[in-house]
Amino acid sequence: MSGRVENLDSDGAVIQVALGNKPTEAQRVQSAIEAHHAEMAKRLSILANSMAKGASPESHSQLAKDFSSYLRSDILPHAQAEETSVYLRAQKVGLSEVVETMLFEHRYLRAKIDEFETLSMSEQAALSLVISEVFSIHAQKENLFILPQVLSSVTDGEAAEVLSEIQHEFAESKRAPAASTIDLRPLPPKARHDVVFSKIQSLEIGSSITVVNDHNPKPLFYQIDALWPEGYSCSIAKVDDRTFTMEITKLG
Ligand SMILES: [Fe+2]
Ligand SMILES: [Fe+2]
Repeated sequence: MSGRVENLDSDGAVIQVALGNKPTEAQRVQSAIEAHHAEMAKRLSILANSMAKGASPESHSQLAKDFSSYLRSDILPHAQAEETSVYLRAQKVGLSEVVETMLFEHRYLRAKIDEFETLSMSEQAALSLVISEVFSIHAQKENLFILPQVLSSVTDGEAAEVLSEIQHEFAESKRAPAASTIDLRPLPPKARHDVVFSKIQSLEIGSSITVVNDHNPKPLFYQIDALWPEGYSCSIAKVDDRTFTMEITKLG
């Protein structure tokens, strides 16, 4: 296959890049992330469809356990990894509104995972199909509307960094799904609250994280309270004029 892609240099000028038969780094990265999306979507779909076919109570219970633990061990860490890597890059290339939608879907998936574990067998079977479909469509949107734009905004050499960033964040998130401290100061202001929302939803009941910010995080507190009334307790401390901390604890 031959063709041409357009890359933007640091001044925003378009650079034409000729492609030969050998895949570019950007294509390799796109394929690797697409393959991971496909693998996750397939696993969810197999488990959801097995539940929907009406398994015996024993089989259903094992399938539900596998579904729930796969969501927690892979799907949530993947979502969390994207939020601190590729989504930040996407926001920088003018995709803030698309990222907003994707973050909304991440929140939806996190909420549904918590709900899944409280449901009856038939409700779990129905919800697992919804979760599986939502994830599959969500991943396709990332394949089509986020990755190509992000990868065409970096040089071919930098494309490898996009993949290693997301893989590193994924491994970190799998190892420690709820870091005890999040420093928001290096993050773009628009992304900060969503990063916190993603972390606090992964907390175990009774456990806490501390957020560090460069201004009083009261607006964050009000937003958490509006989204999850009585879901979390928050305590704000001023370290100095430009450093504030907020400890957030998940309530039962
Ligand atoms: Fe995502
Ligand atoms: Fe994804």
